[in-house]
Amino acid sequence: RKILADELPGAQVIVVSNREPYIHNLVDGPDGDEVELVVPASGLVSALEPITRACNGTWIAYGGGSADHLTVGADDSIQVPPDRPSYTLRRVWLSEEEHEGYYLGFANEGLWPLCHIAFTRPVFRTSDWETYQAVNRKFADTVVKEARNERPIVLVQDYHFALLPRMIRERLPEAIVITFWHIPWPNSEVFSICPWREAILDGLLGSSIIGFHTQFHCNNFIESVDRFMESRIEREDAAISYGGQTSLVHAYPISIEWPPVQLETLPSVAECRRDVREKYGLADDVKLCVGVERLDYTKGILDRLRALEDLFERHPEWIGRLTLLQVAAPSRGTLPAYRQLYEECHRYADELNRRFGRNGSKPVLMVAEHHSQRQVYEVYRAADLCLVTSLHDGMNLVAKEFVAARDDERGVLLLSTFAGASKELLEALIVNPYDVTMMADALQQALTMPEQEQRSRMRRMREIVRDNNVYRWAGSMLLDAARLRKRGEMERATA
Ligand code: G6P
Repeated sequence: RKILADELPGAQVIVVSNREPYIHNLVDGPDGDEVELVVPASGLVSALEPITRACNGTWIAYGGGSADHLTVGADDSIQVPPDRPSYTLRRVWLSEEEHEGYYLGFANEGLWPLCHIAFTRPVFRTSDWETYQAVNRKFADTVVKEARNERPIVLVQDYHFALLPRMIRERLPEAIVITFWHIPWPNSEVFSICPWREAILDGLLGSSIIGFHTQFHCNNFIESVDRFMESRIEREDAAISYGGQTSLVHAYPISIEWPPVQLETLPSVAECRRDVREKYGLADDVKLCVGVERLDYTKGILDRLRALEDLFERHPEWIGRLTLLQVAAPSRGTLPAYRQLYEECHRYADELNRRFGRNGSKPVLMVAEHHSQRQVYEVYRAADLCLVTSLHDGMNLVAKEFVAARDDERGVLLLSTFAGASKELLEALIVNPYDVTMMADALQQALTMPEQEQRSRMRRMREIVRDNNVYRWAGSMLLDAARLRKRGEMERATA
């Protein structure tokens, strides 16, 4: 807020994302239909929500909840968070066909597997691409409608909106458009298989700033532009000049709010431990391992089950003394790849429970349900170790949330080397999820780690997340935006 007031006075901040921060659904209640409020499982939402709250901005998103239309005013807006309104959520309505082609089709069957190395083949359909273009146009119309003047700061989020920056630039040439790509960017060889690669790059190059989590993904993006677009690249400044305009390409590692609001109302670690153990029927001497994510094939859930199996085979002393609580929020469940994963995970968990279950205790509890942020933090606080074993991940905020939840400085984090977070949280046990033996060895190390070592690792990781929190992430993007605006003004004044 201070950066906005000092460096960008009077600027209006507009966030655009596909997923909305608050979803209203109609559910069956004792007295008929009731409206239920859901905060979705999305790293993007958990990072941007505190920022939008802090700067009283406008958030434009797809209104996907079954009761969303009942809660908005005539302008399709609602003030949120519901308990302490501080910003405007403006919902955009999409037809079923639009949602299918743009979100399920092009974004999640095309771009998502294209950008993640998980060996799932991307599907590119011309009809999805056409819908993706049309939906990006629809969001551009909404941005223009919501802009109070010619010069808003528009924060475009993620792979659902690759074409939006250019569309905004054409209609609001003086806007600052900061686009953040929350997922990895592939190397130029992989990117080249996208039939509409030039159009996607052209769209993104409408941005003033394009942000990724890591320098590596920035480099991949710059290489893709270099290979497919007529542009001038100044590598030292990471600046791309294209079509008479310059875009900066920078790494801004995303993070979480510090201290997390969830901790304000949660009971002590000891109470969380007791409550979670009671809820899942775990004996006191059973170590609790947790995994928290959307049920997605990039998250390495099957790989961690393999590691568990290997651990039980080589260290049978853990049989009956270790449970993995896998919280797997349902996601994109109508797509074949996700349905298949759901079945495989449950089948594998059942098999492990048959082989290694003892006296009613199960080694794997697969809970494929949505959990509130409060419930998730309770689980983090109850755990002896947390597994983040993504095959590929932009950042992964679960790793940072787990660390933030442990103000008792206890617990061990196992973290995939293929998640952006592993470049910051060096005190985690860093693993390669493809290497089952290594993962099982790391599990053994985590389960037997002395308290003093847990404490010193956790303390260091907490300092890192505290210092590099989400306000710093947003602040550095906004500072770069302010510098760009000043430079533009100076150039205009001297021209
Ligand atoms: C990832 C993406 C986000 C997305 C989230 C949840 O974090 O980068 O854009 O919102 O997953 O996925 P969903 O498809 O349910 O919005």
